[in-house]
Amino acid sequence: TALSQDELKKMVGYKAVDDYVKSGMVVGLGTGSTAYFAVERLGQLLESGELKDIVAIPTSVRTKEQAESLKIPLVTLDTHSKLDVAIDGADEVDPDLNLVKGGGGALLREKMVEVCAEKFIVIVDESKLCDGLGPGFPLPVEITPFCHEHTIRTIAALPSCAGCDAVLRMGSSSSNKPDGDEIAITDNGNYIVDLHFTEAIKDAPKMAMELKNTVGVVDHGLFCGMTTAVIIAGSNGISVKEA
Ligand code: A5P
Repeated sequence: TALSQDELKKMVGYKAVDDYVKSGMVVGLGTGSTAYFAVERLGQLLESGELKDIVAIPTSVRTKEQAESLKIPLVTLDTHSKLDVAIDGADEVDPDLNLVKGGGGALLREKMVEVCAEKFIVIVDESKLCDGLGPGFPLPVEITPFCHEHTIRTIAALPSCAGCDAVLRMGSSSSNKPDGDEIAITDNGNYIVDLHFTEAIKDAPKMAMELKNTVGVVDHGLFCGMTTAVIIAGSNGISVKEA
């Protein structure tokens, strides 16, 4: 019988912790329904004593709360600027292991934590693999609330974003399915605009630079050149792709 998507997510979440986390490490904890299982596994191995002397840095309020409930010792980047490993899900993974992240709205903290990790381990089920980033999943961009309509127009006019449909995220910041009349607010008090593309993004690093250079943009969900390895769960079992 085929495994459910949740069972696939659990397999890669557990495997990432089992294979990459050792006692004494500083560990980055991702956000989302796949990273959830990695956090769960870390809690189990700490409780059983198989792992010791771990401190972890969560990438969202949600993950912080889950980690606290499992008694995982937490620190911040302010005291620990270098992580041994960070484990997180992704919304899309391309053949070069560039990612789209932020479907769950946690892109800024995720990127801040994951760029500081010696190893960044991405955990996905095979539905996240794509030939080119963009058309399969809207690209989230975190922007400052101040004059956000102006910033959204500025983004839509960037050469690399030509033709995209830029949609302000409404409802809960953790879902890009509009579910309310209120503008969604991130953990950092910002807004998110989701960029819908009809064609694959040709040059993700270039788009990343243009977005990052836009005043009013705090950060964006393109994670380029950061991935150490992707653990993929599919109908034929687990596979690992290294950068
Ligand atoms: C959170 O902001 C996102 O970047 C998540 O890491 C990403 O959406 C993957 O989430 P799922 O594992 O729930 O698909």
